[in-house]
Amino acid sequence: MKKSLGAKTLIYPLPVWIVGTYDKEDKPNVATIAWGGICCSDPPCVAISLRKATYSYGNIMERKAFTVNVPSEKYVREVDYFGTVSGRNVDKFTESGLTSVKSELVDAPYIKEFPLVLECKLIRTSEIGLHTQFIGEIIDVKADELVLGEKGITDIEKLKPVIFAADTGSYYGVGKCLGAAYSIGKKR
Ligand SMILES: Cc1cc2nc3c(=O)[nH]c(=O)nc-3n(C[C@H](O)[C@H](O)[C@H](O)COP(=O)(O)O)c2cc1C
Repeated sequence: MKKSLGAKTLIYPLPVWIVGTYDKEDKPNVATIAWGGICCSDPPCVAISLRKATYSYGNIMERKAFTVNVPSEKYVREVDYFGTVSGRNVDKFTESGLTSVKSELVDAPYIKEFPLVLECKLIRTSEIGLHTQFIGEIIDVKADELVLGEKGITDIEKLKPVIFAADTGSYYGVGKCLGAAYSIGKKR
């Protein structure tokens, strides 16, 4: 018997991504988000949702671009910091000691030290309610060679991304591999 928990944003797993943007004065900023996901394969697109109150919201509206930086586990403290202070009041790059790199493809910065980055051009904005959804076309994906596997694509076990558990508001690492997609289900 299932118990109703009410209308909540309770789903698993949630990503932990860092959105990179520039403000009007070209100051780079980063903010943590968990409300996000891939939303189209062709053209490749990613959706992120931000409250209007965030500094990043105005930056994306102004510059029409953002990056999605995927942290590895060892950056969990920086990740949490980026989600608890606003770029309106502090320079998060200076405070964290991480390095901002200007994307050559979109008008946004990315974090040099994070292993994976998606460079995105804003193609659509949806006013939903408290959050506004930004859809970015992924112009390029850049990955550190250290997180690449044998076939030249990223290896989740090397990358060690972070997952957000909305139930307790905690960060988790990824678990074990359960099987190959489009394959394990064929075996009876
Ligand atoms: C784990 C975590 C997930 C978050 N997810 C979101 C999100 O999806 N959307 C959002 O608007 N804010 C989210 N936040 C809050 C923002 O990161 C926070 O308001 C931040 O200060 C915004 O920074 P900015 O003002 O520099 O843009 C999250 C914070 C944390 C710690």
